[in-house]
Amino acid sequence: MDRIRIRGGRALSGNIPISGAKNAALPLMTAALLSDGPLVLENAPDLADIATMKALLEQHGLLIEHDRAGRRLIMQGAATNLEAPYDIVRKMRASVLVLGPLVARFGEAKVSLPGGCAIGTRPVDLHLKGLEQMGATISLDSGYIEAKAPPGGLRGATIIFPQVSVGATENLLMAACLAEGTTELVNAAQEPEIGDLAMCLMRMGARIEGVGTARLVIEGVRSLGPATHPVIPDRIEAGTFACAAAITGGTVLLEGARLSDLGAVARVLRDAGVDVAERHDGLQVSRLNGLHGTDVMTEPFPGFATDMQAQFMALMCVADGASMITETIFENRFMHVPELMRMGARIKYHGQSAIVRGVPRLSGAPVMATDLRASVSLVLAGLAAQGETIVNRVYHLDRGYEAVERKLAAVGADIERLAG
Ligand code: UD1
Repeated sequence: MDRIRIRGGRALSGNIPISGAKNAALPLMTAALLSDGPLVLENAPDLADIATMKALLEQHGLLIEHDRAGRRLIMQGAATNLEAPYDIVRKMRASVLVLGPLVARFGEAKVSLPGGCAIGTRPVDLHLKGLEQMGATISLDSGYIEAKAPPGGLRGATIIFPQVSVGATENLLMAACLAEGTTELVNAAQEPEIGDLAMCLMRMGARIEGVGTARLVIEGVRSLGPATHPVIPDRIEAGTFACAAAITGGTVLLEGARLSDLGAVARVLRDAGVDVAERHDGLQVSRLNGLHGTDVMTEPFPGFATDMQAQFMALMCVADGASMITETIFENRFMHVPELMRMGARIKYHGQSAIVRGVPRLSGAPVMATDLRASVSLVLAGLAAQGETIVNRVYHLDRGYEAVERKLAAVGADIERLAG
């Protein structure tokens, strides 16, 4: 299994190109199930999760070409197999996003229940309740969700989410595009990836109002057609590299990144003493003076992203003073804490909150983590630590970061991938 070796202490300097967003590309790929296509996604990232989604859609019967050099995914054809098998869904929860499109277009689907994952139980009840409100019959059998549309297909409905869910909003938004009549999604997630999905669906012929707000109104249409759509830049990758610049006391230009997509992350970084400036070609991030301990609480967008919590905690490990970090989205998202402590961080946590007391310097160590963002937080800590850090289980990083070691080495980090 590959590992990453980092020798810390170098300030980063230079440009980092930001890839297309993983969490935008995955739902956009499932939107290909809604029409015969072709659906062409430009600026598609080259990641393990994208390969998993490609395999899932191919086994449903779609024809997919991944033009890596051109950063394009070209998807076409109609699904012939309406079952999403356990072996693929267990690898990646976003697989459940095939459910809405399949039921809306083909009247039925059988999708393995995603089950738990390292960061918590993560149920899909909101996805299922919404489909039921649109007239679908749902049953759970032998670990599979079996969903059937009523005769004549799904019907528009008013769906009020009791809790904000990115995935449920995406699944029901896609289903509503082909439902009979009007669907209203209230308390919908407002993450930039939802807006990107809505833009793509509109390019395919969908009728959607309220994009960028918590109330989406969708007028169902009979069919959707071909489209070409550019994937938005990855705000979490941008935020992660912003933390890399900050933790090393460096300056980087995050090419293509957009300030508005960062939401509260930009404000919190500034409060902590990091300079974040929007330019025509991206975001310039630098840290010339000390870092201050800053409190954060994760929240749905535009609040501070849970997917940035681990990286920000790594930064706070070397700040002056204390920082209280509260995780409100997932119940088990502090797996990076014991590993950061092995590198000399001073952290106490109880329940959903952690207190980080900054130390002057971390020290390198062999570490590993069990999810994507926790793993990258250890890479950040390694960049600032004295001595050598080896990050094990690199496959988590490969799920969501394109060539992370090459991008960091290009701006001066001493980092390399060790094969085997
Ligand atoms: C997406 C992102 C993930 C991010 C998360 C929160 C993708 C592929 N993944 O995940 O990186 O961390 O948003 O920003 O875009 N919940 C329920 N019932 C449901 C659905 C969700 O209780 O039916 C709960 C979850 O357990 C969690 C919270 O709602 O506590 C938010 O989850 P959700 O927004 O749905 O996350 P995902 O879409 O799975």
